[in-house]
Amino acid sequence: MEHFSVIILAAGNGTRMKSSLPKVMHKLSGKPLIGWTIESISDLNPDVIIVVLAAKRSSSSTIKEYLSNSNVNNIDFVYQNDQFGSAHAVMQAEVKLKNYDGCILIINGDVPLFDNSVLLSLMKNNKKTNSSVTILSSKVKNPFGYGRIIKKNGFLERIVEEKDANLSEKRINEINSGVYCFDKNLWKAISIIKPNNIKNEYYLTDAISIIKGFGKNISLVTSKHEIKGINNRIELLQAELLLKTKKINNLLDNGVTIIDSLSVYISIDAKIGVDTVIYPGVFIDINVSISKNCIIKGASYIINSKIGSGSIISYSYIENAIIKKNVTIGPFSHIRHGSIINNNVKIGNFSETKKTILGKNSKISHLSYIGDAKIGENVNVGAGTITCNYDGKKKYITTIGSKSFIGSNVNLIAPVKIGDEVLIAAGSTITNDVPSHKFVIARTKQKIKNRKNL
Ligand code: UD1
Ligand code: CA
Repeated sequence: MEHFSVIILAAGNGTRMKSSLPKVMHKLSGKPLIGWTIESISDLNPDVIIVVLAAKRSSSSTIKEYLSNSNVNNIDFVYQNDQFGSAHAVMQAEVKLKNYDGCILIINGDVPLFDNSVLLSLMKNNKKTNSSVTILSSKVKNPFGYGRIIKKNGFLERIVEEKDANLSEKRINEINSGVYCFDKNLWKAISIIKPNNIKNEYYLTDAISIIKGFGKNISLVTSKHEIKGINNRIELLQAELLLKTKKINNLLDNGVTIIDSLSVYISIDAKIGVDTVIYPGVFIDINVSISKNCIIKGASYIINSKIGSGSIISYSYIENAIIKKNVTIGPFSHIRHGSIINNNVKIGNFSETKKTILGKNSKISHLSYIGDAKIGENVNVGAGTITCNYDGKKKYITTIGSKSFIGSNVNLIAPVKIGDEVLIAAGSTITNDVPSHKFVIARTKQKIKNRKNL
């Protein structure tokens, strides 16, 4: 493949979003719009990706920070002082690519592409047809707001923007998708563009007819799918729904039962195994994998977590945790970061775990907080047990050996170690380590007195 570089336009005001967050940082299926664009192109190994940001907008730094933390490392930034239009934005990248002889792909940062094969076909087409520019068009049901493709004798002639289009042009439903492949004639064309339009902006789209005027070939690749830009929150929602439908159909096709597709949210990257049933009200956020034969019930939220086969999660909140096989959680429990819940564990209602390893077959059935703990196998943690892990400054560890039985309402004052097969009496406050095979009781003795002597 011919070598190429990319310019991503992300300096626009995004006025229509009515937001203090830059438009390209708004999320689609958990990932900022610009993240979608960057990921789809980085797989194709461009020489450099130049992102155009607004110089005067402080929120540009959030885009820069996000991209700098991504695992794509050939990203460079240029700045546009004032937002005079898409061609003016491209002009800011000229210093970097003036003498570049590969393809220059230009992508509007608000056009999340879900399939990068269109970029390859743009570049191939540009070469095959010996063109100086190939644009990606798309046929859409509602072309309102987009630049329309104007053809003459079936060939691309120019692009006209919505605000500058006449009535018959407005009826055209083939639009400019905002993705282009140029050769270096781009720079000459851009220097000629004038803001002769209703918005008084330098339109990148004018480069097409200008290049044609140079006597060069201009051409078009039409996408098989609708490619939409996102300018406002309605379009963001529509894109979200489109992705969600695609994801849900894919899961259904692969053996997952979803009882009510309208009331669930499932991130595009979720992995879900066969015969798992997703009940109404479930929210599966990014980076979740759920194995086969699981049941995920009502108003559960799961993010950055793995769930092993045969597990049942009801009305619970699970974040950054690993849950192994045949585990039952909930209703109404909170499994927090660093929790590793091993096979056959049962965590019942109103319990919380954090940075805790729970051994096989152990149970925390009711109303407990277990944090910074290592708990062995076959342990029963009684109702209301608390690991008192924090002294206001530091966190401390609680260890409990296998087959121990922690009675109800026990306070374990960490750091503390409880051995194997220990029995702790209900209501105890344990401040010292307890060796294996012991019974421990640490509560005041009950006294019964006559009321009149009190
Ligand atoms: C643009 C196209 C239109 C196309 C549509 C596809 C132009 C003139 N029109 O319209 O033909 O159908 O995209 O989605 O390009 N930007 C800057 N600096 C600026 C202005 C814009 O960086 O001064 C960036 C924006 O951040 C955005 C892109 O350029 O990523 C396009 O700008 P936008 O205002 O969204 O153009 P549209 O009206 O959507
Ligand atoms: Ca746009």
